[in-house]
Amino acid sequence: MSLALTPKGGSERVLPRHVAIIMDGNGRWAKKRLLPRLAGHRMGVEMARKVVEHARDIGLECLTLYAFSSENWRRPADEVSDLMGLLRHFIIKDLDEMIANGIRLAVIGDWRALQGDLVAMIEDAIARSSTNTAMTLAIALNYGAQQELVGAVRALAARAQTGALDPATIDLAMIEGALFTAALPQLDLLIRTSGEQRLSNFLLWQAAYAELVFTDTLWPDFGAAELDSALAAFNARERRFGGR
Ligand code: FPP
Repeated sequence: MSLALTPKGGSERVLPRHVAIIMDGNGRWAKKRLLPRLAGHRMGVEMARKVVEHARDIGLECLTLYAFSSENWRRPADEVSDLMGLLRHFIIKDLDEMIANGIRLAVIGDWRALQGDLVAMIEDAIARSSTNTAMTLAIALNYGAQQELVGAVRALAARAQTGALDPATIDLAMIEGALFTAALPQLDLLIRTSGEQRLSNFLLWQAAYAELVFTDTLWPDFGAAELDSALAAFNARERRFGGR
C-alpha cells in the first residue's frame, strides 16, 4: 500500500491526488430563499458541474462526489424521485460534456440497484470514458461505507470458504482491493460543506489518513475559490501517517 505523497519541501505546493466531497446544505440553501428543496438540489448539481470543471483544469487526478447515500432512500418519496430525476438529467446533459473534456467516469456504491435506465446510462458512460486521462470523476451513488465493508468481508469470506484464500494472509492491500475504490488513488483530502462535522458513512476506510476540511459554506455556494481554499489548507497541513 503506497501512503506517500510527494514530500513537501519549503514553499512547494502539493496537489492532493484524490479529493472527496460531501456536498451538504442544498436544502438549507433553498430554505433560506424560501424555495423548494428541489431548487437547492438543482443548484447543487450546477455547483458539482462547476467544481468538476475546475478540478480538471487545475490537474487533480481524482475527485469523488457523494451524490446519493444508502441512507438517502429514507427521505420523502418525492425528494428521492427529484434526486433521481436530477441524476438522470446530469448524466444526459453534463456528463457527456465532461467526457468530451477528457474525464473518466467511475461510480462507487451499489449503483446497479438503481432504476434500469440509469444503470444502462451509467454503464455506457463508464465504457465510453474508460480511456480518458484528464481526471477521474467518481460519483458515489447508493453508497454507504459500512455496506461497502460488509461487501468486502463477504467477498473475502467466500474465497476463504472455497479454499482459494487463507484467512491468515488477509492484509490491508487485500481489503483495499475488495472495496469499490480499489482502482482509485489513495484519498488525501475529504471536504464537507454546510458546517456539519461528521463523515456520515462516507469513505470510512479510505479516510484513515485523509486530511479533513469542514466549511460552513452551503454546497450551492461552494465554488472554485472554496475548492482552492481547501487545497491551500491541505498544503498547510503536515502529514505524518502515524510517524513523527
Ligand atoms: C445534501 O443536501 C445533498 C444531497 C442529499 C445530495 C444531493 C447532491 C446533489 C444534488 C448534487 C448532485 C450531484 C451530482 C453529481 C448528480 P441536503 O438536502 O442534505 O441539505 P440540507 O442538509 O441543508 O437539508
